Amino acid sequence: MLLSVVLATKLSCTYEATSATLRNETDMRALLEFKSHITEDYLAIFDSWNGSPHFCHWHGVTCGIKHQRVTHLNLKGKRLAGSISPFIGNLSFLNSLDLSDNSFRGEIPE
Ligand SMILES: *[C@@H]1O[C@H](CO)[C@@H](O)[C@H](O)[C@H]1NC(C)=O
Ligand SMILES: *[C@@H]1O[C@H](CO)[C@@H](O)[C@H](O)[C@H]1NC(C)=O
Repeated sequence: MLLSVVLATKLSCTYEATSATLRNETDMRALLEFKSHITEDYLAIFDSWNGSPHFCHWHGVTCGIKHQRVTHLNLKGKRLAGSISPFIGNLSFLNSLDLSDNSFRGEIPE
């Protein structure tokens, strides 16, 4: 298990080096819109959420290795507050979303 995680990390680094341009603008925009609706971030989680490096390395974000699209977003228990941007509905490869133990308002879009 640990080995496969290490391997996956290595693989994704390799991919990233060769595909810095392969970032999907829709996913990036969705993440930045999500960030813009956060009103409290005591743990400075979103400091890593800016233009670079690739959004796949932003705190709480996991991407698929091959296509470099967001597959998991895990911000559980990060003491965040704000509303949930409808833009996260544009993360079309998202498999799991964990926003539990925070103070979010609003609905999770389809
Ligand atoms: C990014 O994702 C959107 C929605 O899934 C898709 O329409 C678009 O073609 C993708 N762009 C790239 C560069 O892959
Ligand atoms: C993403 O979602 C928002 C709100 O649901 C929408 O307005 C926007 O056009 C969508 N598409 C892209 C490419 O960001």
